[in-house]
Amino acid sequence: MLSYRHGFHAGNWADVQKHTALALLLGHLRRKDKPFCVLDAFAGDGIYDLSAPEALKTGEFQEGIARIWQRQDAPAGADWYLDQVRALNPDNALSRYPGSPALARAALRDTDRLILGELHPASHQTLKGWAARDRRIALHRRDALEFLDALIPPPVRRGLVLVDPAYEVKDEYETLPRALARALAKWREGIYAVWYPVLSAGRHLTMIEALARLPAQAGILRAEIAPPRPPATGMQGAGMIIVNPPWQFAEDMTVAGDWIAGALWDGPTNCHAVSWLADPLD
Ligand SMILES: C[S@@+](CC[C@H](N)C(=O)[O-])C[C@H]1O[C@@H](n2cnc3c(N)ncnc32)[C@H](O)[C@@H]1O
Repeated sequence: MLSYRHGFHAGNWADVQKHTALALLLGHLRRKDKPFCVLDAFAGDGIYDLSAPEALKTGEFQEGIARIWQRQDAPAGADWYLDQVRALNPDNALSRYPGSPALARAALRDTDRLILGELHPASHQTLKGWAARDRRIALHRRDALEFLDALIPPPVRRGLVLVDPAYEVKDEYETLPRALARALAKWREGIYAVWYPVLSAGRHLTMIEALARLPAQAGILRAEIAPPRPPATGMQGAGMIIVNPPWQFAEDMTVAGDWIAGALWDGPTNCHAVSWLADPLD
């Protein structure tokens, strides 16, 4: 399969929400001196060229990051994320966008580690050119489920797993919760962040129900965003399921998500919602 290319979608409103959540999680990990490890199982290209034909063809970034990247009034998490976008575009014109590996790399200190998994040969090649000389980063051309089974738990036991599939293969909605159950059994204290599209067919709901049943010691949270006027077909919204969210993440994501929705769509704050799917154990 592997026909999906994130270059068509990089910087859209769903990326803005996902990458703000990622920024908040990275900020939490950086709060302590102890080293951390980030595993990004569906890494993509790392950095996207917004002047490339694929980005211009859909123009999705124009309805996403282009609307907010110069705002200086963003709350915690969103402010760091926008700083990273601005750092990539120092000449005041938006032409490059940091994907999840670039954001994670920007958060690394000397002792932290980033492990990237990507199956597409072209994306793997792009990542290689960009990250190969950084000794803090390991790169795997590997199927994501195999990547998760093989690399969890990481040697550094504080950290985050980002699961951001293209959902080209429909059984991913069933195989991913099973892979996360195996991962959680081996690494109970890990934070797991899973992105999903909200689809009118409702396929994402089965996956959310399965994820909500995972035995997560710090509970399971859902953060979802939807444009005020969703398209008639296709993606109606997008969300993140966070297994073992850090302390205060729910509150911080509520503030950041409301701000993003307001900044993207001129004010409506009911376009973003954060809710608990499962309470912390004991
Ligand atoms: C949504 S994109 C990732 C975007 C990236 N996480 C970001 O936020 O910048 C999904 C990526 O997963 C890759 N992919 C698809 N199926 C995969 C699989 N089975 N194993 C690993 N990577 C896969 C695709 O090539 C694509 O680059």
